[in-house]
Amino acid sequence: MDLKSSIIKEKLPQHIAVIMDGNGRWAKQHGKPRVFGHRNGVQAVREVTEAAAELGVPYLTLYAFSTENWNRPKMEVSALMRLLVETLHKEVKTLNKNNIRLLAIGDWAHLPEPTFHALLQGIEATRHNTHMTLTLALNYSARWEIAAAARALANRVATGELLPYQVDEHVFAQALSTHGIPDPELMIRTSGEHRISNFLLWQLAYTELYFTPVLWPDFRKEHLYEAILDYQQRERRFGKTSEQLAHEMQDPENR
Ligand code: IPE
Ligand code: IPE
Ligand code: MG
Repeated sequence: MDLKSSIIKEKLPQHIAVIMDGNGRWAKQHGKPRVFGHRNGVQAVREVTEAAAELGVPYLTLYAFSTENWNRPKMEVSALMRLLVETLHKEVKTLNKNNIRLLAIGDWAHLPEPTFHALLQGIEATRHNTHMTLTLALNYSARWEIAAAARALANRVATGELLPYQVDEHVFAQALSTHGIPDPELMIRTSGEHRISNFLLWQLAYTELYFTPVLWPDFRKEHLYEAILDYQQRERRFGKTSEQLAHEMQDPENR
């Protein structure tokens, strides 16, 4: 049986988040400048988006540019920003054709003007689509997001709109830029690095993590299927015991 048809439809992760890493090393392997790797990473973005949509995964989030990435050489940053504009302009049609809604998280309002505009246009043009939500994390850092949420809540408390005891996990999650998006069930990082790099720190609390040595520009649909199959083998216990879970399976009323 091929990989795709081995996937259990009923156990499909509802939200997959991806740290797209390894473009620079891929370019180096090909004896080319780093930007060449970023350009070739676009095909991998198409592949995961299409594969996730075909499978019926409702939410896909891609880490495209971190707050820390501003520290890279100026040339690389501006090339990345241009690539984003170019790709957004090109792909909006395909997103609409496939009924995919585009969203962004992070401090994306402070991206360079052309990037901000292309993104805003993409979001506007796809806002009524319902099959899948594709979220780009752009100028994103989880600590920035958590601090911004704390600030917003503190303001609401200061004005008396909210009382301190009302600030619980639910209210806090609502103040994050991911409000309305369920927490990821599967997080994939490519390129063999085993770290989170300031991505979705709050939301990944109970996410299954999957690391692959594949460099992002080489990532294809089959790699996504492999990650999902690995996820489907796992037992998600959420603090309970295996025996409790087995019992609940037999008697779902008794949760
Ligand atoms: C990921 O690839 C893309 C971005 C962070 C924008 P990298 O550019 O980090 O590639 P490596 O990790 O240097 O190989
Ligand atoms: C994380 O990759 C950010 C993105 C994929 C956009 P990095 O390559 O920037 O992460 P570190 O610096 O190796 O942790
Ligand atoms: Mg990297």
